[in-house]
Amino acid sequence: MPKLFVSDHPLVQDKLAALRDKRTPPEDFRRLMAEVGNLIGCEVLKNVRTRKTTVRTPLTTAPAVVVDQPLTFVAVLRAGLGLIPGLLELAPKAAIGHIGLYRNEKTLAPVTYYVRLPKKIADHFVVLCDPMLATGGSASESIHILKTGGARNIALLTLLASKQGVARVHRDHPDVPVYTAVVDAVLNKHGYIVPGLGDAGDRLFNT
Ligand code: PRP
Ligand code: URA
Repeated sequence: MPKLFVSDHPLVQDKLAALRDKRTPPEDFRRLMAEVGNLIGCEVLKNVRTRKTTVRTPLTTAPAVVVDQPLTFVAVLRAGLGLIPGLLELAPKAAIGHIGLYRNEKTLAPVTYYVRLPKKIADHFVVLCDPMLATGGSASESIHILKTGGARNIALLTLLASKQGVARVHRDHPDVPVYTAVVDAVLNKHGYIVPGLGDAGDRLFNT
């Protein structure tokens, strides 16, 4: 598994351009985020455990490979919800967990207000979903919550990451790979990714 995967898929980059565009309305923003979740999700899920088997075709039997690991997708509220529909298209039977946290506007430290995860996730392949990795505080805390809940096999799916955020996750959780569409260089003094796309939660939910 790579530690950092940045998608160079033309469709991901095309949709990222539209997501960054301030003129993109919420209804398109939602659709685009789900689509990017689907495209990068394919890469993340390459790492799921499989087993060999055989299937009976109408003519004979064929060797086959099937997924052999339960999947859990965890949305970091609010913006992480935007990535879930695209992942569920790939794996409709996955369990969905929720971690509610927001950044304190002054300190930028994460404040947790809700956690609901499947009970036994030690054997699950867990995809933590949050489109924005800025200071990395929210992602790092979410991974800590997942590990406390028993998760051992975690990948982080984002859309826009900052250099600082990637470094923070790699420092705090060297076992967790980061998947993203782009790594932006700068965080401004309010902790926003620059050039970024603005506030993902507000754009997704039209608030
Ligand atoms: C945003 C975003 C991440 C977090 C990233 O959430 O969705 O969770 O900020 O910032 P960080 O890497 O510096 O921690 P926000 O706190 O705005 O909450 P919201 O999604 O509910 O609006
Ligand atoms: N959260 C967002 O929604 N956008 C940023 O640029 C940083 C954190």
